[in-house]
Amino acid sequence: QLYRNAYYTGSATQLSQLPEDTGFEVAFAGRSNAGKSSAINTITGIRSLARTSKTPGRTQMINFFHFDDQRALVDLPGYGYAKVPEKMKQKWQQTLAKYLETRQSLRGLMMMMDVRHPLKEFDLQMLSWANQADLSVHILLTKADKLKNSAAKQSLLKVVAELKNHDLKASVQLFSSLNKSGRDIAVQKLDEWFEV
Ligand code: GTP
Ligand code: MG
Repeated sequence: QLYRNAYYTGSATQLSQLPEDTGFEVAFAGRSNAGKSSAINTITGIRSLARTSKTPGRTQMINFFHFDDQRALVDLPGYGYAKVPEKMKQKWQQTLAKYLETRQSLRGLMMMMDVRHPLKEFDLQMLSWANQADLSVHILLTKADKLKNSAAKQSLLKVVAELKNHDLKASVQLFSSLNKSGRDIAVQKLDEWFEV
């Protein structure tokens, strides 16, 4: 399996440090602690590829994990972390918006949201930027293991309805890095974006 070959190839703290804008990449975005790094590890099957942590704000750089010389998964720092100074938050939000708008290699955006707290204010903002940039979005409702099946399904339906209300386009699924549920569907989406 392709994503198993992923390895760390570098980090950037600002857009000027990104690798050359060629090839294909898929970015993993979401609020701090939503499970972005864990999702990358679950999808690749490499347990400690992306650093995960109980402390929100663990990932502070844009980290690249290439699985061949032209294709990479990109782990983005989380947004919405309360302890980050307002100025830094705004700076990071601008960086994110610009990355979504201008990055030619970006094929899709995986958005991680805790199934218990989906579609917070900045999630909606990200979705709206991605839609404006004509960038395809797939939402993983993470930590699905924390809810009973029926409650998780309800959350999924509610998210689908809310997206429709806000006139936002994205596909949505349940996901758990703990028991790997939803992994196959997420991989299918990546295959589509990477033209596997
Ligand atoms: P930042 O890099 O800080 O923005 O966080 P992140 O979105 O990368 O989250 P990370 O993957 O580090 O996970 C945050 C915490 O949630 C860790 O303690 C993980 O073990 C836990 N976690 C992530 N995914 C799941 C899941 O599917 N189920 C459960 N139960 N816990 C999870
Ligand atoms: Mg992280």
